[in-house]
Amino acid sequence: MNDESIYAEASKDRAAFWAKLAREGIDWFKEWDENYQWEPPYYRWFINGKLNMSYNALDRHIKTWRRNKAAIIWVPEPPNEKERVLTYFDLYREVNKFANVLKSLGVRKGDRVGIYLPMIPEVQIAMLACARIGAIHNVVFSAFSSKSLQERMLDAEAKVLVTVDGYYRRGKQINLKAEAEKGVEGTPIQKVVVVKRMGMDVNMVEGRDYWWHELMKDAGNYCEPEVMDSEDILYLLYTSGTTGKPKGVEHHTGGYAVQAYWTTKWDFDIHDDDVFWCTADIGWVTGHTYGCYGPLLCGATMVEYEGAPNYPQLDRWWSIVEKYGVTVFYTAPTAIRMFMQWGEEWPNKHNLNSLRILGTVGEPINEEAWLWYFNKIGGGRCPVIDTWWQTETGGTLINSLPGIGPFIPTVAGRSFPGTSHDILDESGNSMGIGEGGYLVQKNPFAPGMLRNVWRNPARYKEYFSVYAEKFYFTSDGARRWDELGNIRLTGRVDDVMKVAGHRLSTAELENAINSYEAVVESAVVAAPHDIKGEVPIAFVTLKPDVAPSDQLKKELIKHVDATIGPTARPDKIVFSSELPKTRSGKIMRRILKSLIRNQSVGDTTTLMNPESVEYLKKEIGYKE
Ligand code: PRX
Repeated sequence: MNDESIYAEASKDRAAFWAKLAREGIDWFKEWDENYQWEPPYYRWFINGKLNMSYNALDRHIKTWRRNKAAIIWVPEPPNEKERVLTYFDLYREVNKFANVLKSLGVRKGDRVGIYLPMIPEVQIAMLACARIGAIHNVVFSAFSSKSLQERMLDAEAKVLVTVDGYYRRGKQINLKAEAEKGVEGTPIQKVVVVKRMGMDVNMVEGRDYWWHELMKDAGNYCEPEVMDSEDILYLLYTSGTTGKPKGVEHHTGGYAVQAYWTTKWDFDIHDDDVFWCTADIGWVTGHTYGCYGPLLCGATMVEYEGAPNYPQLDRWWSIVEKYGVTVFYTAPTAIRMFMQWGEEWPNKHNLNSLRILGTVGEPINEEAWLWYFNKIGGGRCPVIDTWWQTETGGTLINSLPGIGPFIPTVAGRSFPGTSHDILDESGNSMGIGEGGYLVQKNPFAPGMLRNVWRNPARYKEYFSVYAEKFYFTSDGARRWDELGNIRLTGRVDDVMKVAGHRLSTAELENAINSYEAVVESAVVAAPHDIKGEVPIAFVTLKPDVAPSDQLKKELIKHVDATIGPTARPDKIVFSSELPKTRSGKIMRRILKSLIRNQSVGDTTTLMNPESVEYLKKEIGYKE
């Protein structure tokens, strides 16, 4: 295990440090010519290095004793259904076969493949099969609507979609194929592969839709891994920004593999006898890096659970930890707060002594949740690794490391060895200890970071233009904790909110609401929430001839579900014939934010319509 000296060693020459890690952690078909290049605002790692991700995640393990080691322990939601265990060799065989299936469907290197799957092993198989043949996968969260799927498939110009008949969620059967059906309409998708998980009666379109198991029956069991350049795209993952349109974050093969491998190994101190469980859905970046690539690159055993944490009872997660002897557990603060509310009697029913390390991700963790996690789940034995990172960064970047620490509730920790961050004010001055500002990353940028925004370099450039191409701007607020470089994260400083750890753009939600016929305009702001961290509150102006009603609120929520997905549901809808605006007609979201927090709204006399504020105060029960 590492000690404190790793930080000093890494900071001597950060690019050389990563090159050493790249050599030790990843098998390359050909070593690179140069470690790193920075041509603002673009950077590249391991120039001309050649490798294959699936080779690193599978082939190199099956040549060792790990061949028969469990790679994935899949736990279905129905408690009476048996788990499925895939050894590294099983996974290798399935990935090779599915790679051949994709080829037979006409998928070539550089083509995009959509993956709209729940938490079943076929999702990792499909991702690794794409990586094997050099196709670019684009996973869409299975709880996203058909419209979200369609938008992403159109932007990525995907050729093939992999989906499922259905899956279980809280005991209910969800028919995903029906959503997928609507989602492929009008997109370039020519073929749809459907996994049979449920045996549901689904519509299959002749010549377009194929059953996974039928294609796999005749597929050859070896597929030569494609030789990929370090800077070839591995995957696209769409995420929310400040505009109404999600952006396709590009992760490239070499650098991402290196960061995924080493962050998994060091953040979670992964050893061969560990059982690692990252509870994130594969539809988010955490699922990509720590529910697929990272653990498999490390040759680790991981748990994958299909369903809801509270099904059939509030102790389902803890029963899984006990049953499979999970040693490293990684989840989100929102989940911890939910379990806290359900009460400690549920984890107390189970022996959780196998746990060694606990992790959190996705939003700032409050002290009470940190302490509860540490004491009630970790039995006061396990360090809590609070990992700060983003879809854009590909892997964790700021957290304390096990065995080194420090572990201070609400303080994530230091920059991962080989990376460096600063906290700046608006003019680019470094903040002192105890002061807050904007979090930026310094050059050289971590190898797993985004290389572009798919077909939208202008949006990529925005990350760097804020500080004149000197830094990567994270859009997060942070406070410098001490002279060691420990950092406390304080939340987003843009119009992106984190709802139960899910990233959501207010503009996207406003677009969805505004597209409803009865609506003239809307403004969405984030309100603090005890469990979810933040929730969206929608202020909506209806057309003059439409009467506000509870029924209409329900219909609007249904409309949001169908446009984005249930994760974006407003917690509250407030109808108002006018929204507070400046004289130039801009909606004053700042005032709406203050209103829902019961804070002073300040001077409203300069508004175009100050009376709207008075109306809203009454409507939401604001107390002066
Ligand atoms: O605001 C930060 C918050 O989540 C944002 C990134 O969201 P997303 O791209 O969905 O990725 C989440 C999983 C990596 C960040 O800009 N965030 C993430 N982790 C933390 C966090 N805020 C505080 N503490 C964290 N540990």
